[in-house]
Amino acid sequence: MPEVFVTTSDQLPEGGRATVRAGKHEIGVIRAKGKLHAFLNLCPHQGGPVCAGLMIHKVEEIIAEDHTYQGMRFNEDVLHIVCPWHGWEFDIETGKCAGDGAVGLRRFTAVERDANVYVIV
Ligand code: FES
Repeated sequence: MPEVFVTTSDQLPEGGRATVRAGKHEIGVIRAKGKLHAFLNLCPHQGGPVCAGLMIHKVEEIIAEDHTYQGMRFNEDVLHIVCPWHGWEFDIETGKCAGDGAVGLRRFTAVERDANVYVIV
């Protein structure tokens, strides 16, 4: 499978992102939680540039044992990327939509070698 150069490693720090065109695809590569994540930059909702979105930890509702609502909190273990068009959220690790796990981003493999980042297409 061909590799496409994305950027140099120093241009993609933690929390950084870069996009690259590979044939008819635009692919976003994000460094988050110490790993590289690569997705087709096309939201499954209406085609927004999802890889340009805000990254935010998953918001969870806190329900007590007596089933009373106790508010909300961020889950620091789960990071989401939020599509800038209408706010659909996707788990950065899996690409699955937070609201519907049957929907997700198309993933690619990103690799780092000799201080460069490549995506396999
Ligand atoms: S296009 Fe991404 S949320 Fe609508």
